[in-house]
Amino acid sequence: MFPGNFAWGAATAAYQIEGGWDADGKGPSIWDTFCHGKGRVFEDQSGDVSCNSYQLWEEDLGCILQLGLTHYRLSFSWARLLPDGTTRHVNKKGVQYYEKVIDDLLANNVLPMVTLYHFDLPQALQDQGGWKSSEMAGIFDTYAKFCFRTFGDRVKLWITINEPYVCAKMGYEDGLFAPGLKEQGVSAYIVGHNMLRAHARAWHSYDTLYRATQGGAVSLAINSDWAEPLDPASSEDMAATQRYLAFTFGWFAWPVFLTGDYPGVMRSNVERRSKEQGYQGRPRLPTFSEDEPSVLGTADFFALNYYTSRKVKARGACGGMLSLDSDRDAEGVTDASWPVCGVSWLAVFPEGLRNLLRYIKDTLNGPEIYITENGFSQVGLVDLEDVQRAGYYLDTIQEVGKAIQEDGVDVRGYFAWSLLDNFEWASGYSVRFGLFHVDFSGAEQKRSSYVSGKEYAKTIAKYRTQAGTDDLTTE
Ligand code: BGC
Repeated sequence: MFPGNFAWGAATAAYQIEGGWDADGKGPSIWDTFCHGKGRVFEDQSGDVSCNSYQLWEEDLGCILQLGLTHYRLSFSWARLLPDGTTRHVNKKGVQYYEKVIDDLLANNVLPMVTLYHFDLPQALQDQGGWKSSEMAGIFDTYAKFCFRTFGDRVKLWITINEPYVCAKMGYEDGLFAPGLKEQGVSAYIVGHNMLRAHARAWHSYDTLYRATQGGAVSLAINSDWAEPLDPASSEDMAATQRYLAFTFGWFAWPVFLTGDYPGVMRSNVERRSKEQGYQGRPRLPTFSEDEPSVLGTADFFALNYYTSRKVKARGACGGMLSLDSDRDAEGVTDASWPVCGVSWLAVFPEGLRNLLRYIKDTLNGPEIYITENGFSQVGLVDLEDVQRAGYYLDTIQEVGKAIQEDGVDVRGYFAWSLLDNFEWASGYSVRFGLFHVDFSGAEQKRSSYVSGKEYAKTIAKYRTQAGTDDLTTE
């Protein structure tokens, strides 16, 4: 069902697991600042200590080996490597930390996939305007080149930016994530645009300066729900579904994979709403400049983060405010038959992943795809016997198998979110996504496998053995 070179992985992100927020010369990030303020995160928790992976990396490695992973996806904390975000000052201790992680993985035959940016901008760069500043593309490019130069002899799979949609929407539209701004209908488009420009600059740098000698691959991680019309017979719901996908998936996938620009319906809806509301400022959805390196074609594979699905209906009157929601003009609801998993937004629909994979194949000319995140949470009661979650993983992986075998989708790997229970952003430690439980109440942050972790290990072993046998029979 899965090819022998299929990547079996799990993923984490620096701020969510490392702790050591000010250790050994690390600079503060926007998440440090955000959490140290009051009333923003569940019970005012923070990632100050979290799983303490900065000191307990070897424990994490133990978990990775227990699972039998072939790949591990981690992110670099930009401010741990470059405390003020620039290469004026390199933090040697930070470099040493990631060198050890990468070298230990390789020594154990586990391949690293590294994300350069997973939500945690150095605060020093936020102080200069952060992602709203057009300068960020060049600054990010310098950081990316530093990472390619320093680690690219060993890291062959790179993700520039994780979920630009979530950064833009949650950080600048809803104000629920760092930097906590609520500038509706305007800033998220600028932030998303600068992230695409930054990603493209980094990809071009890799392509011209490092690809020949390092031979790796670079992409950005795009999150998307699967979406289908609430009433398949309604043309309004069909059109709303197209808009729903255009405003999440298309926002970042179209420029990079398809046209070099945002989906037409984004442009027309944003323009129409601006006129309706008498908006006088600069066009809200920016334009890609021909004087800059092109965004189109700047991904060597598709990196997909998938969690859930929505049934979509047309929305009708949107009220007087400019906002991303009113531009999109489509409402997603969950189906009563999809079990809700921990957090309310996560309705489980494994077929949704298969459908989305097929959609990506059909609309984007069959790119190689890595599922860089997929997972299920527990809220409140912690149960090491998380049989239900183990079942969801199994069902979802089977859907991925069908996408490969029956739909001919070129899926290269699957990364479970997450290796460990960790700091789940605004929900703090109340929401647990780990394959390993972490005891946050003790000083040792002890890791213990959930049943879902044990079952995932068995699944990996089974499919790897099967693939090995298939190879022998085809020889
Ligand atoms: C993010 C992770 C997060 C996960 C679960 C993704 O949006 O990349 O950092 O923990 O979803 O909410």
